[in-house]
Amino acid sequence: MDTFVIDGPVRLEGRVRVSGAKNAVLPVMTAALLVEGVSTLQRVPRLRDTSTMAHLLRVLGARVEHDGNLMRIDTSSYDYWEAPYELVKTMRASVYALGPLLARRGKARVSLPGGCAWGPRPVDLHLMGMERLGAKITLSHGYVHAEAPNGLRGGEIFFEIPSVGATINVMMAAVLAKGRTTLVNAAREPEVADIAAALNRAGARIEGAGGYAIQIDGVPELRPLEHATMADRIEAGTFLIAGLMTGGDVTVEACDPTHLQALLEKLQQMGAEVEAGPDWVRVRRVDGVRPVDVTTAPFPGFATDLQAQIMAGLAIADGVSLVTETIYPDRFTHVAELRRLGAQIRLDGNIAVVTGTAHLSGAPVMATDLRASAALILSAFAAEGRTEISRVYHIDRGYESIEEKFAALGAPIERRRDRDDPEA
Ligand code: EPZ
Repeated sequence: MDTFVIDGPVRLEGRVRVSGAKNAVLPVMTAALLVEGVSTLQRVPRLRDTSTMAHLLRVLGARVEHDGNLMRIDTSSYDYWEAPYELVKTMRASVYALGPLLARRGKARVSLPGGCAWGPRPVDLHLMGMERLGAKITLSHGYVHAEAPNGLRGGEIFFEIPSVGATINVMMAAVLAKGRTTLVNAAREPEVADIAAALNRAGARIEGAGGYAIQIDGVPELRPLEHATMADRIEAGTFLIAGLMTGGDVTVEACDPTHLQALLEKLQQMGAEVEAGPDWVRVRRVDGVRPVDVTTAPFPGFATDLQAQIMAGLAIADGVSLVTETIYPDRFTHVAELRRLGAQIRLDGNIAVVTGTAHLSGAPVMATDLRASAALILSAFAAEGRTEISRVYHIDRGYESIEEKFAALGAPIERRRDRDDPEA
């Protein structure tokens, strides 16, 4: 497993372009299973997760080429319909194969995803939605068996939680269903609207994506997808928090500031000077970091995927902050590692009490999940001395060319490869 070596403190300065959004491109890749032909996706980041998803599509019989950031998916003759445990256990997003396979093939066999570092992550809302569209769902031997031999039919679906995955999965299934489907209390994350835009361009009839109610009128078939993925708002937010933490001056380009409003508000409260244009955001910090309270919430609230990173920033604030995690109450695996760098954090249920300190110091730490790893990198930039972060394959799941991007901002990261480990 590779290790990152960072000598702090460093000050980040410069401009960085973010990549296409991991959490939009993964479902768009499975959406290609809805069509017959060659779909072309642009701005597809080169990540472990996109290569895992490409592998899943190949297992299903599709042909996938990923050339630079251009991806072509040929689903002219794919004939399989099972997403095996070996793949799903490594990436929960594999469950996105369920909706398209059910819609196009009338059946699907998808492994139930395991838990993750922060507790179980059920898919009950995905399955409820498919049943409302007329599918017969049975669970056995750790697999979801879904069948709709006569095709899916439209229905009204209310989500008791605005689940991103369930909204997207059921929306993809509904585009080929007979009749109208309405999703109520749908997730409003920008990735939902991105997938809807890709599907509408291929002939789907989806209205209201990005709002709390989405209406889908089923069509008999779709044309191949032609889509350029939206910018990764979590990657953009990660770089902006790094700019604040290091007292730097960072401009993130090719992003959408309207996807970052909750974060930009917090960064300003923490003492950053924030400027934004149509597709860029600039963060500078001139004085100390001020403490603020943060509570994660569904979009447009503060993103849970930026919780670990903002906590790293609050760990060097001049006061006490409360970080409340409402989406995944256990999403605090980064806390123990941040403490090793000198952060003063006390956990009380789903609330972290962060007492800022001016003195983080480098130490060996271990990445535990994608966003926790990002928090460790940011803290290493602010710490005195050397930090070694092991198990950085977590980082490689969701951040494209991260060493190059940070090096361009004046923050070198040395990657030590562990040759004899397949996970490296
Ligand atoms: C997506 O996960 C993202 N992943 C996550 O990002 C992100 O943290 C999450 O949305 C919330 O924004 C991808 O898009 C690939 P949910 P998802 O369904 O769809 C509960 C990252 O770091 N729930 O919105 O799985 C669930 O347990 C990853 O890039 C059910 O109870 O999230 C959670 O408490 C990590 N039943 C809440 O809803 C269900 O059927 C929100 O989950 C589905 C979800």
